[in-house]
Amino acid sequence: MNMPLVSKLMEYISNQPAPFHTPGHKGGRVFPDRLPLLPRLDLTELPGLDNLQAPEGVIREAQQSAARAFRSDACFFLVNGSTSGIHIMMMSAFLPGDQVLVPRNSHRSVWGGLILSGAQPVYIQPEYDVQRDLATHVSPREVEQAAEDNPELAGMIITNPDYYGLCPHLSEIRMILSKHRIRMLVDEAHGAHLIFHPDLPPSAAQCGADLWVQSAHKTLPALTQSAYLHVRSGSHSQYTESAFIDRVSQVHRMMQSTSPSYLLMASLDWARAYMEEHGREEIDRLLENLFWTRKELQAMGIDTMEDYCRTEIFQTDASRLVLDVSQLGRTGFEAEEILRQAGVQVEMSDSRRMVLICTIADRKDEFRRLVEACRILSQAKGKSDKEIKKVSISREMPRQVLSPKEAFERKKELIPLKEAKGRICGDLVGAYPPGIPRFCPGELIDCQGIEELLENQAKGARLFGLAEARLIPVLAE
Ligand SMILES: Cc1ncc(COP(=O)(O)O)c(C=O)c1O
Repeated sequence: MNMPLVSKLMEYISNQPAPFHTPGHKGGRVFPDRLPLLPRLDLTELPGLDNLQAPEGVIREAQQSAARAFRSDACFFLVNGSTSGIHIMMMSAFLPGDQVLVPRNSHRSVWGGLILSGAQPVYIQPEYDVQRDLATHVSPREVEQAAEDNPELAGMIITNPDYYGLCPHLSEIRMILSKHRIRMLVDEAHGAHLIFHPDLPPSAAQCGADLWVQSAHKTLPALTQSAYLHVRSGSHSQYTESAFIDRVSQVHRMMQSTSPSYLLMASLDWARAYMEEHGREEIDRLLENLFWTRKELQAMGIDTMEDYCRTEIFQTDASRLVLDVSQLGRTGFEAEEILRQAGVQVEMSDSRRMVLICTIADRKDEFRRLVEACRILSQAKGKSDKEIKKVSISREMPRQVLSPKEAFERKKELIPLKEAKGRICGDLVGAYPPGIPRFCPGELIDCQGIEELLENQAKGARLFGLAEARLIPVLAE
């Protein structure tokens, strides 16, 4: 039988690489035998099984349990990842033309949310560590300034933690936003586990967010695409408490399939129950394994970014393992390949680093395999550190001519990047690293930005948003 996808998946699992990537259940290890997630639980809205579109029975109960565990007033199950949750939050909280504070290092789903809601972004730049080539955090000072400069701001969306496990000072930002009556929406795609351990940075719930989303599939034992959307009622001024939850519920119905997967929903229920019961002790074990792993790696000269935490400015999620391999004369991409050959798969890499997603489902044995693979890496000398060129990054922001929604609604064409000066950008375009868009949809393309992109490309950064690595989407004239 010709089943290319099935065949490749079977081949992949038969090789059994150590999985330092999503999904957080790591091959379903902590799923109990009595939870045969495939395929017998793949059911539909049968009698007694409730309906995600109008939950009144077991789904409602499961969502209420999740709301209690994650300390929200209402929880909605999502079967299309945090991406759909971000769209729902933004469509529920904002009306066309509302101003929203958006850090430029937000996930691309935020621009989807801007287009769907018709909200108008007011951008701020995250702080940037030039030595490390890394966007670190959104500073409370910048938020305060933006709130003073833009008295009409209706909300802010902020990421906690980011892909590298960096968490902004969320409670301070919350205080500033409250003072200015601005709502706080949190993209907590990477932070569903935070609330289960006191030594991890505080979660959006603990910092008083109004709406937040969490990808259960990234850091909890849950299936890919399963995620939670949480609401705190009472802080949405133009609505009564129940009216706002009704509005979120209406948007949730619009944005989720009418045939949501019971497997995904069951895994959301399971992940919550498991973490409530065992989360604390399991995270203790995970942190111990990581402590041991970091020590071993440091002894080999691998930079585990251990001290990269300045509590008063930003915090790091100790369960996220980030390895800076630049001192070994390697790019993260090369290091990822070496580890792959040695039977370890990481989540992602950039020009200096690898990011490994570690969850309660990881076993000591796999951390040992990681350490052995890193030994090979540390012994295989790469180019000297100086040859890995730093990207240039300016804090300049181009002029916004149209909103992302207005830009989305216009016809586009592809033209060479070098000839794009004076045109309006049609999509998110930037270099990776830093992964921050240099131009967002609706912004005027200027010389400085073009030169920066080309310069970074020449230094080995990957440009995103371009076709064939050189054609930029612009609005047709
Ligand atoms: C910061 C951030 N937000 C949102 C998302 C989207 O999450 P999901 O894949 O669950 O849709 C991602 C995905 O990687 C992410 O990194």
